[in-house]
Amino acid sequence: MRLIYSALLLSLSLLYIPNPISAHFFTNVTSIPPWLNATRSNWESFQNLSGHHAGERVDGLNRLKKYFHYFGYINDTSNFTDDFDDALKSAVETFQKNFNLNVTGRLDNHTVQQIIKPRCGVADIVNGTSAMNSGKTNATSSSTHFHGIVVSRYAFFPGEPRWPEGHRHLTFAFNPENDITDEIRAVFSRAFDRWSRVTPLTFELSTSPYLADITIGFFNGDHGDGEPFDGILGTLAHAFSPPSGRFHLDAAESWVVDDDVTMSTSLAAIDLESVAVHEIGHLLGLGHSSVVESIMYPAITSRTRKVELHSDDVMGIQYLYGTNPAGNNGSSPPSSGRETSDGGGALISSSLLGISAFLAVGFGFLLIF
Ligand SMILES: *[C@@H]1O[C@H](CO)[C@@H](O)[C@H](O)[C@H]1NC(C)=O
Ligand SMILES: *[C@@H]1O[C@H](CO)[C@@H](O)[C@H](O)[C@H]1NC(C)=O
Ligand SMILES: *[C@@H]1O[C@H](CO)[C@@H](O)[C@H](O)[C@H]1NC(C)=O
Ligand SMILES: *[C@@H]1O[C@H](CO)[C@@H](O)[C@H](O)[C@H]1NC(C)=O
Ligand SMILES: *[C@@H]1O[C@H](CO)[C@@H](O)[C@H](O)[C@H]1NC(C)=O
Ligand SMILES: *[C@@H]1O[C@H](CO)[C@@H](O)[C@H](O)[C@H]1NC(C)=O
Ligand SMILES: *[C@@H]1O[C@H](CO)[C@@H](O)[C@H](O)[C@H]1NC(C)=O
Ligand SMILES: *[C@@H]1O[C@H](CO)[C@@H](O)[C@H](O)[C@H]1NC(C)=O
Ligand SMILES: *[C@@H]1O[C@H](CO)[C@@H](O)[C@H](O)[C@H]1NC(C)=O
Ligand SMILES: *[C@@H]1O[C@H](CO)[C@@H](O)[C@H](O)[C@H]1NC(C)=O
Ligand SMILES: [Zn+2]
Repeated sequence: MRLIYSALLLSLSLLYIPNPISAHFFTNVTSIPPWLNATRSNWESFQNLSGHHAGERVDGLNRLKKYFHYFGYINDTSNFTDDFDDALKSAVETFQKNFNLNVTGRLDNHTVQQIIKPRCGVADIVNGTSAMNSGKTNATSSSTHFHGIVVSRYAFFPGEPRWPEGHRHLTFAFNPENDITDEIRAVFSRAFDRWSRVTPLTFELSTSPYLADITIGFFNGDHGDGEPFDGILGTLAHAFSPPSGRFHLDAAESWVVDDDVTMSTSLAAIDLESVAVHEIGHLLGLGHSSVVESIMYPAITSRTRKVELHSDDVMGIQYLYGTNPAGNNGSSPPSSGRETSDGGGALISSSLLGISAFLAVGFGFLLIF
């Protein structure tokens, strides 16, 4: 009891100390410093597990088991040994199904290359429910077309949580501990706009992180929700299903804000808008999809831009919320003209976010966690 009390006091006192979190934002890809490019993801060491299979005992397999546990492929946490056991073999097979790889149960090169790709921190399998290929009856690595009909692969969280009916206007706010510029706000506005165009949902920037439906924050490492970030590459961001509204991004990434990420020579360069569009899908209730071209596919390589909703994403979100009554039902790709526009115009001055908002978000988080 005393322990809990002092832990509470400690967390309260931490909340009162303004503690700015600086993330790496780049409006020009040429300014990403070499040290960010030179730092390798923790997952790179999985490369040396390539070629191994069931029955072997290999140094480092215990770390791979933790990886598979994190993304929902292994339930049992009691036995993280270096043995390539049946649980690991089954996890590898499920992973291979979900990522359209040959189902061999072995750590072949293609599989390992997929494992080490930067990705979203949200699990592929939640409470035993597989949202991807492995959870569908007709799981094949073939095309998404069957007799000319698009076979949908989109999926939801267990129970299909969504924002309640009658709550179609959602507000979002940024963690006041982050130094968010107008350019960064515009990136998020554009990302929300892509979902807004194909649904009855509308999004508006709010000055109050405490009252907003969706709170966006960049964090380093452990940030209090039991899902610590892992530094450069690895997991990039995660978001919670409705109606949580928590949207967290790894402050350690090299976030490219406005420039063309594909022109970067840094292997660390990650396109902010691409990741934002994906995480907003989670905030609205979508799970991961096995369709490689879809926004809800879990992985994205560095120096890649993917911001256009795929028909799989559109079908998924319209199942939850219906089409946009104002017109575009998503059957045609959104016009690219708006991509270069001002980003929705919902911009406000960061000076409006005062200390009271900061305290409020602190208490909000304390209540939630
Ligand atoms: C980015 O920086 C480089 C070098 O400083 C410069 O040559 C280039 O014009 C800049 N690009 C943009 C889009 O500002
Ligand atoms: C692979 O890398 C990990 C982490 O660097 C290390 O612990 C393990 O011993 C390596 N395994 C092999 C087979 O080299
Ligand atoms: C843990 O792994 C070992 C070796 O693979 C196996 O013999 C044992 O039964 C496992 N224990 C549990 C609880 O799964
Ligand atoms: C799957 O197996 C086929 C035939 O062995 C091979 O041609 C193909 O490259 C493999 N694909 C992957 C992703 O491993
Ligand atoms: C594994 O695949 C990567 C990329 O697909 C390739 O660069 C590498 O040479 C391959 N390694 C082996 C041992 O085949
Ligand atoms: C994990 O547990 C869930 C039930 O909580 C079960 O449905 C699922 O099959 C289990 N997965 C594995 C790989 O054992
Ligand atoms: C699975 O595929 C077969 C044809 O390969 C089709 O007849 C069947 O309806 C499909 N089942 C589902 C659930 O999509
Ligand atoms: C998973 O199951 C646990 C226990 O049954 C439950 O508390 C939790 O809400 C479930 N999570 C999701 C995302 O459904
Ligand atoms: C980043 O690292 C890669 C591989 O080490 C190298 O080819 C590339 O030139 C580096 N880019 C920068 C901007 O340092
Ligand atoms: C969207 O509109 C087009 C043309 O108006 C129609 O053919 C199509 O069926 C609609 N799609 C949906 C998902 O409502
Ligand atoms: Zn995700």
